[in-house]
Amino acid sequence: MTFAAGDLVQLTDPRRKLHTITLEPGAVFHTHRGAVRHDDIIGAPEATVVASSDGTDYLALKPILEDYVLSMGRGAAIIYPKDAASIVGLAGLRFGSRVLEAGAGSGALTLYLLSVVGPQGTVTSYEARPEFADVARRNVTKWFGHEPPNWTLVPEALPAHPVVTGADAVVLDMLEPWECLEAAWHSLAPGGRLVCYVATTTQLSMTVESVRASGRFTEPRSTESLLRTWHLEGLAVRPDHSMNGHTGFLTVCRRLGDGVTLPVRKRRPAPGAYGPSYTGPRPPDVAADAD
Ligand SMILES: C[S@@+](CC[C@H](N)C(=O)[O-])C[C@H]1O[C@@H](n2cnc3c(N)ncnc32)[C@H](O)[C@@H]1O
Repeated sequence: MTFAAGDLVQLTDPRRKLHTITLEPGAVFHTHRGAVRHDDIIGAPEATVVASSDGTDYLALKPILEDYVLSMGRGAAIIYPKDAASIVGLAGLRFGSRVLEAGAGSGALTLYLLSVVGPQGTVTSYEARPEFADVARRNVTKWFGHEPPNWTLVPEALPAHPVVTGADAVVLDMLEPWECLEAAWHSLAPGGRLVCYVATTTQLSMTVESVRASGRFTEPRSTESLLRTWHLEGLAVRPDHSMNGHTGFLTVCRRLGDGVTLPVRKRRPAPGAYGPSYTGPRPPDVAADAD
């Protein structure tokens, strides 16, 4: 495979700093270590080294989605690759799936969703803030080289009755996903998966209890994943000293069929779980005076 005009290229400098460029005949990429001519890359085999005008070597590779997402422009905070990969798994996505997401933010998760469902699937993304929707559109278009025809971006807050019905999965990444459970229910096919991503424990509790209180989904399950990178040099083999200790929590549940109620839980909540100081939503089978 050789590089061609229009390709995205990731240049890595000697300090391992990444720069992503789109190849254009005659164009020049200026860095503080000299200029790199796009024409020196076009036609070269993939995974090559090009020199800038001041003799600094740059490694040129086609970026994979993870590289691109971490270096692309941002409006809102993005979902990191480790969480995007978990979401894809928890939502049971595959080639041809139909997915609804809100909010699209910078489009990071959107890119993973589109990549997994492929051209046979569809992704519909709602984004309440038009300026963030523009960022998402730019990022998605740059990655694919065009706006995917199977992607619908709606620059509005998710309404109670979204344009998509019969969806295989709904993914909510916003401050208050519990406000959108009605929308998720209307959009999902029975058995469809709802995945909510939230950053704080208070949001996590509100999300889980609201899902239970709605009585319209299966028992929610929540997870958090920590990614620890390692230092590997000769005999010095150990975890890196610093890590990104927190990104977010994921909650997954499935839409029940119309008119279906969950069988009563055999296991009762822990004593005091819904005691007097608990003020959030209550599961249908837990009385307001439970202690
Ligand atoms: C953390 S960002 C999403 C990041 C995105 N998932 C990504 O990976 O780039 C949360 C976004 O949700 C949007 N938002 C909040 N409430 C919304 C709603 N009810 N409907 C649609 N978008 C909403 C916000 O404007 C914000 O852009």
